[in-house]
Amino acid sequence: MSKPKPNDEGHTLWGGRFSSGPDPAFWALNASLHIDQRLALHDVRGTAAWVRALARAGVLTPQERDALLAGLERIADEFRAGAFAFTASDEDIHTAIERRLKELVGPPALKVHTGRSRNDQVVTAFRLWLRDAIDALDRLLRDLQAALLERAEADFPHLMPGYTHLQQAQPILLSHWWLAHFWPLHRDRQRLAQLRTRVDVLPLGSAALAGTTVPIDRTALAADLGFRSLSPNSWDAVSNRDFAAEFLFWAALLGVHLSRLAEGVILFTTREFGFFTLSDAFSSGSSLMPQKKNPDGFELARGKSGALLAALTGLLTTLKALPSAYDKDLQEDKAPVFRAFDELRALLPVLAGSLRTLTVHPDRMQAALDPDTLATDLADYLVEKGVPFREAHHIVGQVVQRAARLGRPITQWAVEDFRAVHPAFGPDVHQALDPQRAVARRDVVGGTAPQRVQAQMAAARQALDDPLSLVHPISQED
Ligand code: ARG
Repeated sequence: MSKPKPNDEGHTLWGGRFSSGPDPAFWALNASLHIDQRLALHDVRGTAAWVRALARAGVLTPQERDALLAGLERIADEFRAGAFAFTASDEDIHTAIERRLKELVGPPALKVHTGRSRNDQVVTAFRLWLRDAIDALDRLLRDLQAALLERAEADFPHLMPGYTHLQQAQPILLSHWWLAHFWPLHRDRQRLAQLRTRVDVLPLGSAALAGTTVPIDRTALAADLGFRSLSPNSWDAVSNRDFAAEFLFWAALLGVHLSRLAEGVILFTTREFGFFTLSDAFSSGSSLMPQKKNPDGFELARGKSGALLAALTGLLTTLKALPSAYDKDLQEDKAPVFRAFDELRALLPVLAGSLRTLTVHPDRMQAALDPDTLATDLADYLVEKGVPFREAHHIVGQVVQRAARLGRPITQWAVEDFRAVHPAFGPDVHQALDPQRAVARRDVVGGTAPQRVQAQMAAARQALDDPLSLVHPISQED
């Protein structure tokens, strides 16, 4: 890169008080074009709105306004066509666009930055960009939710072992497990919609820190850019990156949810479990071991959650001791947000496709179900016979221990075997040892009983298109 000279006409935005140009090493460190050029179209949009606001305020004539808007439209076309040519003196995207505007339009371009600072300009473009990014991610997340729901519907009503501590606990429906990963994403979509309103705030008009001196109608400016509200304090407006941190927290938590789902699927595709097989389209092989079929997509979901968490802690650490309205540290705000966006945009469709195309093996899940997962139901049986639960728990513990010692699962026990442990067991004891019945007994809102899971699927369908409504609201009259 050739060394830019700030005092040369058309070079940096701030050359007037400098007599020497920047050292190339300093320039390379200070420039942010390689990161913030992604804001190009949003910066053009913000600048066009600023031009209209300046014209309304009488700073630009209608002719100047129209020339500038035509120039900005041309610049947007150049970016869309990949034809915009950067120069060595373009410090950041905002500088580049203003430089190009001057080339295209001439003198009126020298007025475009009247009453504006890059401090309010950059955060305006960033908010506009993030608003679009949020809408794109919401659509992708909705599709992943839809894939989970389709699985729940297609795999109804297969039984599987449910786990706590990764030990078999109680039988559940596979659909129930799929939906257990649907609802965290529902909360993610709620959070995203809520934080979007805090992104959707106009900072422009704040200038460097104290507010613009041009009589700008900020309400009209916000309406022009589709913002829902105005920043109430110009200092806060240019220093506030809460919206970016909040987005990164959202991304980090979504990353955690995806990682947990991924870990479950990876485990269930192992030979030892054998509950699922991934499609060829969404798995990869080994360069050495011909037999291998690896769940790379899910592993990357698990792995990338690290980068998402790092993006959040990185930005929060950058923000924590900033003394001014704007400090250059804030230039570090965009890379982690872009990284989180890129990772999620790449990941979400792969997860949706992987889920839609995997094969479930109900026979393997059924075969894996340890009869001991019915121990709670056996204890409940004794409770129905009048044995207090704590005592029933102890008795069934002895049953389980004895079954292990004899090497004979409780499903193969005769009534007398049970009665040898406790006389409260009766001839109907085997009813308690049916996994279908065990599942059907969890007949509570949110339980794994088939009709409750069906209701859950219906609620999930509704939630897909209405992420903000409460799922089971409590009516005050009830
Ligand atoms: N590239 C800068 C950023 O992203 C633009 C703002 C520069 N403002 C300034 N006062 N130097 O933060």
